[in-house]
Amino acid sequence: MADQFILTKHEGHVAILTLNRPDVLNALNIPLMDELITTFEKLDNDPSVHCFVLTGNAKAFAAGADIKEMAEASVVDMYERNNLARWERIKKVRKPIIAAVSGFCLGGGCELAMHCDMIVAGEGAQFGQPEINIGVIPGAGGTQRLGKAAGKFRAMELILTGRFFNAAEALEIGLATKVVPDDVYLEEAVALAQKIAKNSPMAVRFAKEAVLKAFESPLSEGLDYERKMFYMLFGTEDQKEGMAAFVEKRKPEFKGK
Ligand code: CAA
Repeated sequence: MADQFILTKHEGHVAILTLNRPDVLNALNIPLMDELITTFEKLDNDPSVHCFVLTGNAKAFAAGADIKEMAEASVVDMYERNNLARWERIKKVRKPIIAAVSGFCLGGGCELAMHCDMIVAGEGAQFGQPEINIGVIPGAGGTQRLGKAAGKFRAMELILTGRFFNAAEALEIGLATKVVPDDVYLEEAVALAQKIAKNSPMAVRFAKEAVLKAFESPLSEGLDYERKMFYMLFGTEDQKEGMAAFVEKRKPEFKGK
């Protein structure tokens, strides 16, 4: 059923997606993930949306993959479900995604936040990769992405102990973009998204792609990629408008063309 596990709201050019399984702290089961991916893909192709905010509720962004859904699964079940391969489709969303995090952000929940491009956290948020405590390891990119954000030695301690860490530590290790009072975490994330949504949509998407390239390629390849994308933007009306507006000392009006 559509709109069951993902609630969608539009504020101008910002789409706010809310994970909606509050009774189980937004545990990420397969139907929720399928709905999330379908919603992202639909809105990624909608030119009126420039930026996403992904959030949960005050108590939980998400407390991880649904443990009950996989507790009895065999290797073959897990292989056949291939649930984790679904996450690749979130990685392919071209518009920026800001995670607005309050409460628990654990396991697959933390990995989902790390699929986003920025993380705005309420000061009471609790992060963690506690999979080790239930006999597994992070499976949706946590061993890779936490290391990229926090460095090997911090990630190793967090993943091997599974301990929770607070928003201040998330900020300190480079996981959170910004920590704000709990009562404004969503407001602040939406304000940041609105600021980004005012820029040229093409330039924003190219910028996201180029920054992400740095994490998957050697420096020389990333620089080459960046240079080509920079040149390509000179084929857009937005580049002409942005530079003309600067010269004419006025605000640019971007059209996404
Ligand atoms: N999966 C399924 N159900 C979950 C869940 C999860 N990950 N997390 C919480 N829930 C459910 C609980 O079972 C409970 O449901 P019932 O009322 O039906 O019993 C409800 O949510 C509320 O949870 P608690 O009663 O446990 O709430 P609490 O405030 O006492 O504790 C918590 C909160 C510390 C977050 C605790 O729920 C917890 O430890 N959750 C599991 C965290 C975890 O291990 N996450 C990793 C999952 S594995 C994973 O994510 C793999 C991967 O890499 C993809």
